Amino acid sequence: MISVRHVCKAFKQFRAVWDLSFNVPAADVYGFVGPNGAGKTTTMRMMATLLDPDYGDIEIDGISVLDEPETVRRMIGYMPDYIGVYEGVEIQEYLDFFARAYRIYPARRKKLVDEIMEITELTGVRDKDVSVLSKGMRQRLCLAKTLVHDPKVLILDEPAAGLDPRARIELRLLLKELQKLGKTIIISSHILTELADICNSVGFIERGVMLQSGKIDDILAARTGPANQRLRIRVLGDVQAAMVILRSLTGVTGVEFERGLIQFTFAQNEDGNPGLLRELLERNVAVVSLEQESRNLEDIFLKVTQGVIA
Ligand SMILES: Nc1ncnc2c1ncn2[C@@H]1O[C@H](COP(=O)(O)OP(=O)(O)OP(=O)(O)O)[C@@H](O)[C@H]1O
Ligand SMILES: [Mg+2]
Repeated sequence: MISVRHVCKAFKQFRAVWDLSFNVPAADVYGFVGPNGAGKTTTMRMMATLLDPDYGDIEIDGISVLDEPETVRRMIGYMPDYIGVYEGVEIQEYLDFFARAYRIYPARRKKLVDEIMEITELTGVRDKDVSVLSKGMRQRLCLAKTLVHDPKVLILDEPAAGLDPRARIELRLLLKELQKLGKTIIISSHILTELADICNSVGFIERGVMLQSGKIDDILAARTGPANQRLRIRVLGDVQAAMVILRSLTGVTGVEFERGLIQFTFAQNEDGNPGLLRELLERNVAVVSLEQESRNLEDIFLKVTQGVIA
């Protein structure tokens, strides 16, 4: 649905984005991850037709941002990282204003604004002045604004920034709902844990270059191989002794101790775990917990960026 092809963007001599290519398939929720200054906002602004690439092109559902920016604008909802709202305007007026701007007929408009306030849980505060909204409500209002013209594609630049944990959970649920409605969503963040639960695809950008992009499951499988698991155990007693015993077991490699846990790769699928546990217990290793490193984006990220970040 979103196809970024060899995009370059420089500001004077500075290369903000360099030969960037990636795809976001339809109905995916794609996490666009990278540290401050990596080029996320720059890329998203180019997707939203607010900035032209110096080289390369971006297509939204097959339509080029360079050739047909007007068409693209009708297909996308863009939520910028910094949002200006007007004073002396109520939430419902604010949304109605954007519905007018998108030339939605008066007969349809009221119902639409009501529906959008419902889905973004703003109905209860519809008469509130937008200038007095809390950060969380303001973020929801901005998301609501991007939905007015029912776009296929949502481009959300750090929508969870500054939200409290509860508001983050609510945002996550809202994004899941939108995904169910068939929207394709790209969402940027530098907080990985925030994305792990909602995204099924992810791209890691660093200094304007894409390090890895694809389905989270595929990236994990490529890393460990299909019949390989990365496991973590916590043991009581002598950790060093436990690590020596682990290393002696068949199929166990890459044993490390980190954050109070012994981590290792086990060359069997999870059917092999009971046998592994039995062997450890028989050798008097007091295992108190065993977990799989599953959709842990932080772990993937560290692996992908290993040696890249100085
Ligand atoms: N209009 C501009 N003029 C000059 N430099 C710019 C401009 N816009 C962005 N840059 C530079 O391009 C680089 C990428 O910026 P960008 O805002 O895309 O990063 P980001 O990944 O969104 O970072 P953050 O996580 O902080 O939002 C930065 O070094 C930034 O200073
Ligand atoms: Mg940014």
